[in-house]
Amino acid sequence: MCGIVGFTGTRSAAPILLDSLKKLEYRGYDSAGLAIMDTGLIAGNKPEGTITVSKVRGRIANLCEKTCDGELLPGLTGIGHTRWATHGAPTEENAHPHLSNDGRFAVVHNGIIENYLTLREELIADGYHFESETDTEVIVHLIEMYYKGSVRDALIKTANRLSGSYALGVICSDEPGKIYAVREASPLILGIGIDENFFASDVTALVNHTRNVIYLEDGEFAELSKESIRIFDVSGQVIHKKTKRIMWDVQAAEKGGYEHFMLKEIMEQPGAVKATIAPRIKNGKVEFDELTDLIPYLPGIRKIIITACGSAYYAGCAGKYALEKLCKIPVEVQLASELRYSDPLIDEETLVIVISQSGETADTIAAMKECKARGAKTLAIVNVVGSSVATISDFTVYTWAGPEIAVATTKGYTTQIAVLYMIALYIGDSLGRIDGDYGKMVETIQALPRRIQQAIDMNPGIPAFAKKYHESKALFFIGRNTDYAVALEGALKMKEISYLHAEAYAAGELKHGTIALIEEHQPVIALCCNPSIMEKTLSNIVEVKSRGAEVLALTFRSNQKILSVADDLLFIPKVDALFSAVIEIVPLQLLAYHVAKENGCDIDKPKNLAKSVTVE
Ligand code: F6R
Repeated sequence: MCGIVGFTGTRSAAPILLDSLKKLEYRGYDSAGLAIMDTGLIAGNKPEGTITVSKVRGRIANLCEKTCDGELLPGLTGIGHTRWATHGAPTEENAHPHLSNDGRFAVVHNGIIENYLTLREELIADGYHFESETDTEVIVHLIEMYYKGSVRDALIKTANRLSGSYALGVICSDEPGKIYAVREASPLILGIGIDENFFASDVTALVNHTRNVIYLEDGEFAELSKESIRIFDVSGQVIHKKTKRIMWDVQAAEKGGYEHFMLKEIMEQPGAVKATIAPRIKNGKVEFDELTDLIPYLPGIRKIIITACGSAYYAGCAGKYALEKLCKIPVEVQLASELRYSDPLIDEETLVIVISQSGETADTIAAMKECKARGAKTLAIVNVVGSSVATISDFTVYTWAGPEIAVATTKGYTTQIAVLYMIALYIGDSLGRIDGDYGKMVETIQALPRRIQQAIDMNPGIPAFAKKYHESKALFFIGRNTDYAVALEGALKMKEISYLHAEAYAAGELKHGTIALIEEHQPVIALCCNPSIMEKTLSNIVEVKSRGAEVLALTFRSNQKILSVADDLLFIPKVDALFSAVIEIVPLQLLAYHVAKENGCDIDKPKNLAKSVTVE
């Protein structure tokens, strides 16, 4: 997904922007570019304010090579971009920054301008010439059109013409030393330095330079020079906003000795789940200070809808069982991309739980807005503080997973489920509906970080299984009930990073069609961690084995029946099945990781995928 950065100060801008762009590489991109303004104060041989643009297709490394690590672009002010193609192919022409026809403005943009075709026709009729196929280019020509000596006025008038989502970075050759930022439905953060200031679409691009930041909100504009930051609204009124301090450790955003971010993040799960759980358990009770205002609404809630995309959706599938059992409220889990267009039966008696690691997923935001418009209360489970989902929802519970860099989520997913378990206990207890041993359940949850570590330690055989299975044509994951929910995520992890065809099936469905696919040596990964349904899954294992399948079963060490029928085994420690999904997924994450490694895949940045899906 696209990333934007901006810098103004007393140091050479290009190397700083290149470094910040590298920090955004994890988001996925296909081209990159810089626009640097010559301030005439350092060895540029162009008049003060001249904007020079350099763009490449492919990696930031190509941009470093093309610009001699930025040396060929002298200047103290600039903007940069990594592009993930939406409108127009990933070419150098379509890469950002885009220049106005008079060369006075350069613009970088994240998001999508929905009315760009109409605007493009209008601008062409007015004599503007387009160099690219992008939706972004209309922005820079509109700014040129509206510019009558005040960049601020031109930006406000331009923003009034745009529909869609945008985070913009703008420089103007009439104002050397200034960078402008505009936000509407796409993240943008200002970084405050000493004699220098920054902006970026993601804090990871800022933390090397500053930890003091301001989160822009929708409809806000910022004018940054090396000494000052001014923020204003659509009417041009100045706004005063609070500075926040980023507590993330720089090391936390780097690989910390592991070969890949994904492996590091898998290994961080005991700590991430602990950080998420521990502050919310006080004196043997689950407490959410952030949910106290929700309590009065709970007796009137007749239905819970969980909505999310991808792994976050699968986290919802896994958490549904605990919510239904402990709260005695029916729970539906719906894909946000479906829910938003489904004219859903949602009203004031519905609690909508929205799950998103990034908090910026376009479909999830749209689904949440739809639910709010129908009167539902929305409760978001989010990892990124100040993100759009967190800002829009009525209630927000943060997962404290820390920054997740690998595109495939791991600790994001497990911390989401941990929060769902605790919300189930919290709501169930508030409503007085828990009929099991509440104290024991809290203890089970408190032990989850330890159990995750055990699940990591119990499976030294995973690299060998990866060698055995990595050339398979397809992998089938089967399970029932809570095991099926985890199978869905296990299959997604496998396909997205190893590019193997992997599918999850509810084990009881095999005989309704899928079993036709089972042939000699077909690997089947069978999840058998739910004692209430184990005998049934065992019959399914026997069914596929009798058709020649090789079964890799995931179960407890004491599960003699499964041990005697499976070909290979993955283990987890024994945990109440209602709360075991966060443990079960861990060996499957490691299996996907090692299969991808065997297949030589780009594990942290799988092809065609982006970390934060901010467009529909
Ligand atoms: C898969 C993965 C995606 C995300 C999905 C939602 O590993 O990461 O499926 O889970 O794009 O993203 P968030 O949680 O940021 O809303």
